[in-house]
Amino acid sequence: MIGDVERILYTEEQINIICDELADKIRRDYSGRELIFVCMLKGSVLFFSDLVRKVGLPCRLEFMEVSSYGSGTVSTGKINIRKDIGCDIAGKDVLIVEDIVDTGNTLFYIKEYLEGRSPASVKICTLFDKPVRRQKPVYADYSGSVVDDQFIVGFGLDYDERYRYLPYVGVLRPEVYSS
Ligand code: PRP
Repeated sequence: MIGDVERILYTEEQINIICDELADKIRRDYSGRELIFVCMLKGSVLFFSDLVRKVGLPCRLEFMEVSSYGSGTVSTGKINIRKDIGCDIAGKDVLIVEDIVDTGNTLFYIKEYLEGRSPASVKICTLFDKPVRRQKPVYADYSGSVVDDQFIVGFGLDYDERYRYLPYVGVLRPEVYSS
């Protein structure tokens, strides 16, 4: 464990099990359908690459980059689309893949945005859910684990672009972001 991390919340093994469980549910629900996975860059990239391989259904992979946090620890609530998906989703089943739903500001906006393009369905799969912080009514159709209101990093989650590479998820020492 690196020094900036106070304690590990989810080991690599635990994350792997959570991903397996989510993939099993998704495979059952989408079998025989034409699924488009949408990776929300950058935080969900590690989760996304594990998930799509574990689901193992024929599918299309698309990427969006949206940002609301800047370099702080608190959502600004202002959503910027930096990169949009590159295909027509009309009539298709879309599954948005996120690392974490916090205030819900990002997905509230993005789900509506994608629904405006006439897909057959838009659902949400998130590795972590922080319902205690919710400001917008966002419901995750597939949720790996509920987390308390603490600042977590690793397995894609960052603070100021750091720690994404960690294979585990841990609680960041408050002195790292308060200094
Ligand atoms: C993080 C995370 C979600 C969003 C969740 O992204 O990946 O997209 O914040 O927060 P919310 O529910 O309060 O909107 P961020 O904007 O930090 O970009 P990143 O994925 O590049 O880390």
